[in-house]
Amino acid sequence: MYLGLDLGTSGLKALLIDGDQKPVASATAHLDVQRPHPGWSEQRAGDWITACEAALGELAAEHDLSGVRGIGLSGQMHGATMLDASDTPIGPCILWNDTRAFEEAAALDADPRFRAITGNIVFPGFTAPKLVWLRNNDPEAFKRVAKVLLPKDYLRLWLTGEAVSEMSDAAGTSWLDTGARDWSDALLAATDLSLDHMPRLVEGSDASGGLRAEIATKFGLKPGTPVAGGAGDNAASAVGMGVIGAGQAFVSLGTSGVLFTASDGYAPDPDTALHTFCHALPGKWHQMGVILAAADALSWYARLVGEGADKLTGRLGELQAPGRALFLPYLGGERTPHNDAKVRGAFIGLQHETDRDAGTRAVLEAVAFAIRDSFEAMKATGTAPDSLYAVGGGARSDYWLSVIATAIGRPIVLPADGDFGAAFGAARLGLMASGDGGPEIATPPAAARSFEPVAELSAAFDDAYARYRETYRALKNLS
Ligand code: XUL
Repeated sequence: MYLGLDLGTSGLKALLIDGDQKPVASATAHLDVQRPHPGWSEQRAGDWITACEAALGELAAEHDLSGVRGIGLSGQMHGATMLDASDTPIGPCILWNDTRAFEEAAALDADPRFRAITGNIVFPGFTAPKLVWLRNNDPEAFKRVAKVLLPKDYLRLWLTGEAVSEMSDAAGTSWLDTGARDWSDALLAATDLSLDHMPRLVEGSDASGGLRAEIATKFGLKPGTPVAGGAGDNAASAVGMGVIGAGQAFVSLGTSGVLFTASDGYAPDPDTALHTFCHALPGKWHQMGVILAAADALSWYARLVGEGADKLTGRLGELQAPGRALFLPYLGGERTPHNDAKVRGAFIGLQHETDRDAGTRAVLEAVAFAIRDSFEAMKATGTAPDSLYAVGGGARSDYWLSVIATAIGRPIVLPADGDFGAAFGAARLGLMASGDGGPEIATPPAAARSFEPVAELSAAFDDAYARYRETYRALKNLS
């Protein structure tokens, strides 16, 4: 058996799979996000450990975990978990969707070395600008920083006692030489840090350390069980769906929205605001467009109208042409394609006839148009895929998948029953780290259904997309 642990933004999921990669059991512990100021988004690192103990405890209560041969980690990316010399967190972790460091990010991005070495824009949500923000706003706390860890790597520190990261998550810090798969001394120095502040690096499929005896004993696991490097959650999902070779792709409708393609070589194009990161397997990279609020935008609307998201989307019926109501999903700024931390969401075109369902459709269409923005950027770099798998909570909505297929003009494929998300990818990396298999075990899932673009509505979707683009241009300085 193998165990995958995915530290998401809204919860920590533990998934147990057997030797044939069939899911045996899973447990999820909820996590809250603290938003003490507009644009801020934080979690306490201690809450991750509590959640992990709860999820492992639930699994251990029902299953004998002594046969687990490898553990893999996946996690929300970019978070700055700052530790002092005794490994105690200095304040809460500043998360991937926190945009407070937008000025610091712009300043780093103006230094041409960052795009040249990392292959990416320095986005406010990435890790390095958050450290500069701390230096500028709390220099005493900054002086106490001895290590900076990404969220899942903090979990690893607890599990193994080792400060280690891996390439896919490290690529989202703005400190990695993404082509060379190594920390950049020059970029660390540009933020008043050094290699000493960084964890050791391994590949995602390599072992990073062994499970501490104290934790193993508590949950009936074997002490020393190898813990794989693992992956940032998007690369982990890709491993889960076998998206590891050039041309393979998926769209993720989680808290964030992601359009992800794998590539065999390193071909960055920072001007597009696409992210070019290392994949979780050696010698592989990937590109992705990231939108900050996908299922998060739908949850926001669901809270606003006081009805559950599944109910709202479940009664929409057949795909309709976009109506007059149009939404911008930029509730906390946007990454791809705008790199705009200040823009905020909007509803326009509201009229007497606009009802709750029209609002739901507008939100789903807006997220699909945001994904189309990333798709257009990929087309421009020659990496746009022919079809895409769908993953994440939002993929439960047939209507949403039809909207996306029609908005981008490509089929969206829903994997057959099973759990092919980040926790599964993490478990697969755990399998690889145990030595029981290599990258060949990361096969694609069987397709359950394919959502084809609805040809007779594609012109209407094109028109609405053009209006969506224009609305951003018109409102960006007003919202
Ligand atoms: C990727 C990103 C998000 C988080 C969400 O760049 O910021 O997808 O990883 O967990």
